[in-house]
Amino acid sequence: MDTIPINSFLSLDDAQCDERIIAAKKALGTRLVILGHHYQREEVFKHADYTGDSLKLSRQAAQSGAEYIVFCGVHFMAEVADILSGFQQTAILPDLAAGCSMADMANLKNVEQAWHDLSVIRKADEYITPITYINSAADLKAFCGHHGGIVCTSSNAERVLKWAFSQREKVLFFPDQHLGRNTGARMGIPLEQMVVWDFDKPQGGLTQVQIQAAKIILWDGFCSVHQQFQPEHIEQYRTTYPEGKVISHPECPYEVCQKSDEIGSTETIIKTVKASPPGTRWLVGTEVNLVNRLAQESLLEDKFVHYMAPVVCMCSTMYRIDPHHLLWVLENLVEGKIVNQIKVLPKIAAPARLALERMLEVSSP
Ligand code: 13P
Ligand code: SF4
Repeated sequence: MDTIPINSFLSLDDAQCDERIIAAKKALGTRLVILGHHYQREEVFKHADYTGDSLKLSRQAAQSGAEYIVFCGVHFMAEVADILSGFQQTAILPDLAAGCSMADMANLKNVEQAWHDLSVIRKADEYITPITYINSAADLKAFCGHHGGIVCTSSNAERVLKWAFSQREKVLFFPDQHLGRNTGARMGIPLEQMVVWDFDKPQGGLTQVQIQAAKIILWDGFCSVHQQFQPEHIEQYRTTYPEGKVISHPECPYEVCQKSDEIGSTETIIKTVKASPPGTRWLVGTEVNLVNRLAQESLLEDKFVHYMAPVVCMCSTMYRIDPHHLLWVLENLVEGKIVNQIKVLPKIAAPARLALERMLEVSSP
């Protein structure tokens, strides 16, 4: 039986999409769960059964008994949902082009090369714990599973790093250098003990002495959205609003996080702003869809939320999930057809699950 093509959905307006998404959700009932990341646009976000940051949504995927897990987020999130859910469950990403440019900055070949180069000093498995940020491909999670390593998210990076240091003396942290550096700094690790591994250079562009002196070897990756926030944005805001507070995502550069009052995952940012007293003013350094939604909701509680950059920093891949694609996958499911399934090969899923389960255990309340 042929699937219903996407083309027949593209000319629908938002109201038509809304009506049909609601009807499809009703028809699928408990067989379906829709997970929505905080960066999703409002037209999609409002249809999610559960919303959250990467850690919260991973837990939700692991606990859900639904037959279909439709992930309104990006590719690595749907992969995690597939890895952590049961054999009979199906993870679906409404648009396969919804990737993560930071995740793409590390690949298995480069990481294996780094592991090999780091083994020149001593066998890397004896002295380094690999940590992959959840924003990475499944085969890198599998690499960590194979090498005594672990996955982290923006909300548990400190606990994961502590665990990693209890295993071995050093950490190789990929792909986000900022999350690694900001978390290391919060733990009191001096900047000079956190070196950057340039994956385009032999031995990461580092000398053996630099590697030996390092506690954390940071992959030379970053998020192009969060990279745009600058310390000057905070300085300007503080000049205008000396009483105002600042909260940033740990994917922001070190100098931005240093100037912030609070640092946290998307879920933490929302919770912190919501828990602040009426009249509080916030400058928020993270993706625009989250900030706009938070600003609107906060106004109702007499709080003021400002966006950190003068230009709009949107995650263009998160934005690819639109109501048309959501409706397309749902109406196909109603017809008994699966489109855009994300399936991780069992030989990758098993070690990746190991690294993810270590993370869930380390970060359990
Ligand atoms: P959170 O886990 O904080 O939601 O972050 C995910 C992400 O991709 C941020 O850019
Ligand atoms: Fe990836 Fe950055 Fe988008 Fe998050 S905001 S999904 S890290 S590109």
